[in-house]
Amino acid sequence: MMYAMWSGVSVDRERSRARLRRTMSMHLWLLLGVTLLSACGRWGVAQSPAVHYDEARRTFRMDAAGTTYVLGINQQKQLQALYWGKRLGSRDQFPAAVQSPPAAAFDQPITTTPQEFVGWGGGLYVEPDLKITFPDGNRDLALQYLSHTIQGQLLRIVLKDVSREVYVTLEYTMDAETGILRRAAEIQNRTNASFTIEQVSAATWNLPRGTDYRLRYLTGRWAAEWTVQERAVQPGKTVLESRRGTTGAQNNPWFAIDRLGTGGPETGSVWFGALGWSGSWQITVEQDLLQQVRVSGGPNSFDFGYRLGKGETFKTPPFYGGFSQEGIGGASRLLHRFEVDTLLPHAPKPTLRPVLYNSWEATEFRVDEAGQMALAEKAATIGVERFVMDDGWFGQRKDDHAGLGDWYVNKEKFPNGLKPLIDKVHGLHMDFGLWVEPEMVNPDSDLYRKHPDWVLNFPGRPRTEARNQLVLNLARPDVRAYVLGFLDKLLTENDIAFLKWDYNRNWSEPGWSAVAPDDEKRVYVDFIRNLYSILEELRAKHPRVEIESCSGGGSRVDLGIMHLTDEVWTSDNTDAYDRLLIQNGFTYAYTPAVMMAWVTDSPTWVNQRTLSLEYRFLSSMQGSLGIGANLNKWGPEDFATAKTMVAHYKAIRETVQRGSLYRLITPEHESEHSVTESVARDGSAAVVFAFLHSSRELYPFPRIYLQGLDADATYTVASLNGKLATDTPERASGAYWMSRGVDVLLKGDFQAAAFTLERQSAAQK
Ligand code: DGJ
Repeated sequence: MMYAMWSGVSVDRERSRARLRRTMSMHLWLLLGVTLLSACGRWGVAQSPAVHYDEARRTFRMDAAGTTYVLGINQQKQLQALYWGKRLGSRDQFPAAVQSPPAAAFDQPITTTPQEFVGWGGGLYVEPDLKITFPDGNRDLALQYLSHTIQGQLLRIVLKDVSREVYVTLEYTMDAETGILRRAAEIQNRTNASFTIEQVSAATWNLPRGTDYRLRYLTGRWAAEWTVQERAVQPGKTVLESRRGTTGAQNNPWFAIDRLGTGGPETGSVWFGALGWSGSWQITVEQDLLQQVRVSGGPNSFDFGYRLGKGETFKTPPFYGGFSQEGIGGASRLLHRFEVDTLLPHAPKPTLRPVLYNSWEATEFRVDEAGQMALAEKAATIGVERFVMDDGWFGQRKDDHAGLGDWYVNKEKFPNGLKPLIDKVHGLHMDFGLWVEPEMVNPDSDLYRKHPDWVLNFPGRPRTEARNQLVLNLARPDVRAYVLGFLDKLLTENDIAFLKWDYNRNWSEPGWSAVAPDDEKRVYVDFIRNLYSILEELRAKHPRVEIESCSGGGSRVDLGIMHLTDEVWTSDNTDAYDRLLIQNGFTYAYTPAVMMAWVTDSPTWVNQRTLSLEYRFLSSMQGSLGIGANLNKWGPEDFATAKTMVAHYKAIRETVQRGSLYRLITPEHESEHSVTESVARDGSAAVVFAFLHSSRELYPFPRIYLQGLDADATYTVASLNGKLATDTPERASGAYWMSRGVDVLLKGDFQAAAFTLERQSAAQK
């Protein structure tokens, strides 16, 4: 109640004295608290963020890391957004929420007031958070505050419709280390009949009023994922979405908004957010008539309808939001930290990614026992830790026309099952991984012949086949049981450490004729819930098995799937130069700790571009390193280079995967240069990767100014591939590396350099 304490003046002397005594004792407590807080801050211990409710003003306040979030209940009992931004003084008091006035007769307060979660009703013209059609035809919903509970860091606020038994519980949890807020909503039907939810969001984020905002978001397509886009936020709406039944690459469910012209990549205020949902989704960024900016997000309302039965509850996926004062670079680092420390399986200590080998680009579907064993032997010589057999090992799979759905080992290719190969891989001191695509079926498969009704389709209508496959309707209980059953059997019968879980097309004709017509559109939600529950059950039953989310590349990467998988496949485009841009975009929202990056053959199948093996390694070493080249084509020099690079990677991987990323020079806007730096969490080490497209007109490579080092400490520099300028001192202060900078000798086309910095201990100084 720290905030309530500074309130009001009483005329009653006795009460004043009592208050004075209370205030003095609270001052003492406050002093003690502040002392403890600053001590904890010095010792690097994150404070558990508390939720404070000011009863007098009916405001809720949450503070953590550099962020404060405040909301209040206004006189109309609406839940109103009051503040989201830089952390405020603990004594700062928030006035009570007051509904905004109408803007003439045309825009009533329901539209002009920034609400936390607003039902579609009255004269609401901005994006609603909830729209319901009741069986009697009523479609009006007016949500009002009813009650709240605070349990530790969890704030739950219950809203209720003015007359109907519709309850909405809003959840808020702020992460202590990053100030990232997790929000979600739960809709409860306590009426006497079913109603249909036509639109529902997890949350609406309200930004301070302004006309100078810039929106960043991510777009892409197969082999060209993760392009960073920028546009001014102007009157009207920008809708980012997927209507594909899955996350998709066309847009990714992430946004970041800053104020134009307020700073560089490492300065200025940035508000950002990301949805934890792997189905069709939407994020709407809207500047309303009064220049207020709202961002709402949840499952896509297009073709959506969820009939909620009497007594049933609908829970939305989470929408995470955060604030950074350190520009877009700081926003990415907060998200990375949140993902690694809080979201990933095994957080706060997710396992470091092992160096893997994957057979796909070497053999495609032509896998067999002898061929895979030969590749495994070669992979082991360069220090690979995990050997993964990709597509082609099962059913009648010779190409992409047949076999999906038949998850038994192909006897022609593996006459003795998978065991001999797995034993061989183990004997080479690697663990074994396997490719699966559980949600798909080829019409040419035993599974389809037996269960033609298991696929998404509208009976009697044409069906779109993509890559010669159809989507199994995972929303069906029998399909869910089949998928869980075969995966469980596979993992129980074989010593498999890793599954590459692929998903190679998007939905079409999303019919589900086995349920009542009014329930068919539940498929958008039930499919994803079943996917998540299968992953949860598998993980619980096989806790040592790791899983990669792959969707023909990076088409299923979001905070929902990331909670249940250990890594993601970034893109099928493995051209090491294209990858600079792809990986750069990826890191705006997602941590390099899960960003799989393979070294493949040159010239690449993508662009026929020739790149040195060293360049290809350095490009991939910015994320989680894999090798996907055809090792049968390598000569002794290639193996020697690879062995050295893999050893270097193992030495730096903790810094790359767990450290703080600085995009020092981005490859965006056709830049000739690209530089990234990862700094260990404790500032003890850093690694820098620099890439040159082409030299021009005698210009040297731009000087590299490091960031995030301990200015007073001494760091020793070491080059990974001999490209540091000759005048680079062997050791210097963090201040030197950050202010004087480092030159690298990069000239020519497609050149790369990498170097490390290591902090000297006090004894070494
Ligand atoms: C698409 C994936 O992205 C590739 O890496 C590979 O696994 C193929 N599918 C296999 O069909």
